[in-house]
Amino acid sequence: MNKITLLVTGGAGFIGSNFIFAEFRRGDVRIVNLDLLTYAGNPKNLESLSGNPGYIPVHGDIGDRELLRTVMTQFKPDAVVNFAAESHVDRSIVGPEEFIRTNVVGTFNLLEEVRTYWMSLQAPRRDTFRFLHVSTDEVYGSLSLHDPPFTERTPYAPNSPYSASKAASDHLVRAYHHTYGMPCLTTNCSNNYGPMQFPEKLIPLMILNALGGKPLPIYGDGRNVRDWLYVKDHCDAIRMVLDQGRVGEVYNIGGRCEMSNLEVVQRICSLLDEISPQSAFRPHASLITFVKDRPGHDWRYAIDCTKIEEELGWKPQETFDSGLRKTIEWYMQNTDWIDSVRTGAYRQWIKSHYGTP
Ligand code: NAD
Ligand code: DAU
Repeated sequence: MNKITLLVTGGAGFIGSNFIFAEFRRGDVRIVNLDLLTYAGNPKNLESLSGNPGYIPVHGDIGDRELLRTVMTQFKPDAVVNFAAESHVDRSIVGPEEFIRTNVVGTFNLLEEVRTYWMSLQAPRRDTFRFLHVSTDEVYGSLSLHDPPFTERTPYAPNSPYSASKAASDHLVRAYHHTYGMPCLTTNCSNNYGPMQFPEKLIPLMILNALGGKPLPIYGDGRNVRDWLYVKDHCDAIRMVLDQGRVGEVYNIGGRCEMSNLEVVQRICSLLDEISPQSAFRPHASLITFVKDRPGHDWRYAIDCTKIEEELGWKPQETFDSGLRKTIEWYMQNTDWIDSVRTGAYRQWIKSHYGTP
């Protein structure tokens, strides 16, 4: 029997690389990883796959139609999983253009080429083909303290250039299913954390700053709430949606783990106090500093994941404490990886955004 071939876009980023490893652990698969290798894409994430004939990295843009056509014709994927995106809210506030270029126009170009390819397939491959678009809970906007969590029926109300660009891409995916019958699926997930997350995001930034005895910059009063999910649980959910999801449907994915940013950072600090009893920076919570708030900062996100739990039987395997411990240990053990991402461009971002090197 032929191996299944997946085209993964943005697979050198945080969630994409965790997904690729999870797929290879599951079994015999061929994965083509189309990634532009922006500042967030790190070939080091997948270095251990070099020499694996089933892993095919392709350096390129999801907006490059000619390249997409070549990749589709050459590798004939059975499914496409679209992770590629600009993903950092703060960067979208400083410079939204790249977000429109990749998240909106790029997704459109990808959809067009996938549609042409899908239409060229014969049954039964045409019937089993899937396009899975990985999206975010941020498209639903901001909740107040007592609002119920987002369901798949919550109206879209994106507030940042990032979430607006993701919302636009979700609408395009929906339209390609509705209009052309393309077998699309969309997942909207809450905040992920885990190994290989670029240290511009809250959890890895705080871990690395705390390990280095640097200030832990909390925006505003630290009471904003996010719903945290360990990345491997997200990857398992994506696999289940690919296998069993109903085409044209949207699945919300979340950890049922709402925490304020201050609570998250305090938890990181107390775990570090426990793991590194000799650290000169204990108690790490003394490094907490409140800084200027993010403009338009969404107050609260929370996901109601009843649909994926009941329809597909998915459930997160990690608690916040078990996932956070694994994450901290990973960052403590992978100093080469950390050096490789703390490049000039990264230091420039930290300096311009936080005013500290
Ligand atoms: P990331 O920023 O770590 O990785 C993005 C990857 O996309 C990088 O490898 C980058 O090089 C690549 N890329 C960017 N522009 C590209 C382009 N034009 N063509 C090809 N590749 C390109 O992001 P992530 O955190 O891994 O998120 C992956 C996806 O999941 C995104 O679509 C994001 O919106 C979504 N998501 C993320 C989270 C989260 O908490 N991180 C939660 C829900 C959904
Ligand atoms: O909800 C899913 C989304 O989660 C994904 O779609 C995004 O790609 C991902 O980046 C993430 O967005 P957030 O803006 O929620 O994540 P971030 O890690 O940037 O911030 C989490 C919270 O922590 C947010 O309320 C802002 C706050 N924060 C963040 C940073 C970087 C701080 O207080 N200080 C910081 O230095």
